[in-house]
Amino acid sequence: MLSKKRLLICLTALLTTGYANAQTPNIDPNMGIIPAPVSVLKQVGTFILSQETSIQADSVNNKAVQFLSSYLQNKFALKNKLQAYKGISVSNAIVLTSTGTENLPAEGYRLTIEPQRITVAGKGAGLFYGVQSLIQLLPIERAATAKIPCARIEDYPRFGYRGMHLDVCRHFFTVEFVKRYLDLMAAYKLNTFHWHLTDDQGWRIEIKKYPRLTSVGSQRAQTLIGNYHDRMPQQFDGMPYGGFYTQDQIRDVVAYAQSKYITVVPEIEMPGHAMAALAAYPELSCDTKLDYKVAETWGVFNNIFCPTEKTFGFLQDVLTEVIDLFPSKYIHIGGDEAPKVVWKSSAEAQAIIKRLKLKDEHGLQSYFIQRMEKFVNSKGRSIIGWDEILEGGLAPNATVMSWRGEAGGIAAAKQNHNVIMTPSSAGYYFDHSQARSDLEPLGIGGFAPLAKTYAYNPQSSAIPAAQQKYVLGVQANLWTEYITTENKVEYMIMPRMMALSEVAWTPLANKNYTDFAETRIPKHLAWADANKFNYRVPTAIGAKDTAYNAQQLTVDLKVPVNGAKIYYSIDGYDPNETNDIYTHPFTLNIPSDQYRELKTIVITPTGKRSLITRTVVTNHTPMPAVSFSGTTPGVKYELVAGSFTETGQLDGARVLDTGITKTFNTAAFKKANRTFGVTYTGYFNVDADGKYIFSTQSDDGSVIYIDDTMVVDNDGKHSLYEQPGEVLLQKGMHKFTLKYFEAGAFSTLRVYLTMPGKPKGEFSAANMVN
Ligand code: ACM
Repeated sequence: MLSKKRLLICLTALLTTGYANAQTPNIDPNMGIIPAPVSVLKQVGTFILSQETSIQADSVNNKAVQFLSSYLQNKFALKNKLQAYKGISVSNAIVLTSTGTENLPAEGYRLTIEPQRITVAGKGAGLFYGVQSLIQLLPIERAATAKIPCARIEDYPRFGYRGMHLDVCRHFFTVEFVKRYLDLMAAYKLNTFHWHLTDDQGWRIEIKKYPRLTSVGSQRAQTLIGNYHDRMPQQFDGMPYGGFYTQDQIRDVVAYAQSKYITVVPEIEMPGHAMAALAAYPELSCDTKLDYKVAETWGVFNNIFCPTEKTFGFLQDVLTEVIDLFPSKYIHIGGDEAPKVVWKSSAEAQAIIKRLKLKDEHGLQSYFIQRMEKFVNSKGRSIIGWDEILEGGLAPNATVMSWRGEAGGIAAAKQNHNVIMTPSSAGYYFDHSQARSDLEPLGIGGFAPLAKTYAYNPQSSAIPAAQQKYVLGVQANLWTEYITTENKVEYMIMPRMMALSEVAWTPLANKNYTDFAETRIPKHLAWADANKFNYRVPTAIGAKDTAYNAQQLTVDLKVPVNGAKIYYSIDGYDPNETNDIYTHPFTLNIPSDQYRELKTIVITPTGKRSLITRTVVTNHTPMPAVSFSGTTPGVKYELVAGSFTETGQLDGARVLDTGITKTFNTAAFKKANRTFGVTYTGYFNVDADGKYIFSTQSDDGSVIYIDDTMVVDNDGKHSLYEQPGEVLLQKGMHKFTLKYFEAGAFSTLRVYLTMPGKPKGEFSAANMVN
């Protein structure tokens, strides 16, 4: 007789295979392709790629044809040489042609897989993208043969501008590495490389007329250690740092990018972010007596180009050489973060404002940008500027790159200006953390997990329908203050670049985060793993850092990288290779008033590791009300002095102040103290028995105790992060304790509560008593 358990396993197996057979066409509707295509029609049969397969093309010298040919030669050791296309009757062939593509949108392709033949149809970039999709259908490992399921794919991009940016000023990256970056971009159908070449910390492009830009401006004496806000006094490494690209190297990169249908948009920063240029040519500043040096730390510097004829002449000379090197329609001239303090006190700058009858320093910045725009336009090119170029009036033909949220982009589109969306707040600053910042490598802060990047829609509903056409596309930026190595660049861009690619390319209706993150990303990260690209290993799919109440802990996980293993523990220890490997779902029963804890880690075939997740499930009976009869509104606070990394360190620290407050706003504490800790205590009343979900959103760490039991654990020195925790409460009064510390940069503390049957709302200290 089958035991109940065996029966269940058999049934599950039956169901699983039955499901797989019946539903295969829908399990992976995009056939693993990123970005998801416009249309995929799966058909019966397979094409078998082998050593005998030939490649035939309209034009054997075409870049896309050459790319596919060398890729397949290497991977499958094809016997036949690349051939001219012989006509419709060919068999066991991959045909690359522009025939039948007249009605495809720009950059579009059609990929048809039939048992006898694969046809990639497209022109220019379209054919190249068809080849990229075909490559994504092939197995990752070298193989004698590959079975490719029959299908008809038709595809073209949602946006014409699909960009990635790289800052090579804060840290320098070699030509070889920039090409690797371009390889990744091309694989994901991104077509614009925004190369941030000049900034305070280094001038990275050779300009023949001004050799000091690189002999002086490309070198700094030393570099800040750690996060800008971390150490007081700041620490420096004492190690000279530098590097630049010769004009030959620039031409080499531009040509390489062109071979992959990528346009390189150079950025030459003005009038701000100019310390490296001023170190080389102090006469371009408003205060020539100052001793300028290439910046060794990060941030925004007051010394900017002085808006004199000398500066305009210099910048025009620079742009003349830049325009000769880069065939791009767009030249990015920066325009961001240019403080006006120096212009305010400069007699020269003030005289210009007066002479030109400008309103103020913002008017002067606008004049500066408009003048440079005229010059760039006179060379047949157009400018892009960061959204600050809106201040004081937009230059007539400028394209705005919206980085301080979307507001600049929305305003520019409403003025009928072209816009590229790259909002730092929506997950498009890839220097921001992919998880809670203290668990990630040193960074600038911010929170930009994969799901946030994926969820973004560049066509803001705040832009009227008629002006949506001004949104040219979307870009992610990689600022490199804290990114010193190639490995870290790759870690920061992958897998988020894949999300960018789908946002930039795929029709909204075809986007599906579950399919993206759980079906396709695991395959693509396995590809990255096998091809020695670094990337951030996601945590196990289904594993969460969370705490909740239940009678069971159900464990149902999936690997986030194909071929990786999930190791888990239930004993509270951090898991590693010595622990059990997760193989199938299981459930832990939790006796009353006990808890169970699950920790997981993912380890990939090449040994890369994910963060450890921790799930704590408690089966506790609802907490009884406590007796408290005070009626004074608000909560008590105790402010303490110190530099903390955990809230546990607050007890016993020197008390600075105590009192009663009706808000968790920490601005006043922050104003008086660079670092501090604070404990709030009070009592609140709940009207009904039930589940109460608290959360804190804090920078840095915070924890909440209810009736002296920890409910929210958002501890640690980290940038803004929200962490929930839930508790069962009986009707009546309960004690509330909130501990928080601020470790130096920005201070934020918010508390939220979801009550039974109510939406989540801000939980105010004013609603408590003490
Ligand atoms: C910027 O992040 N300053 C454009």
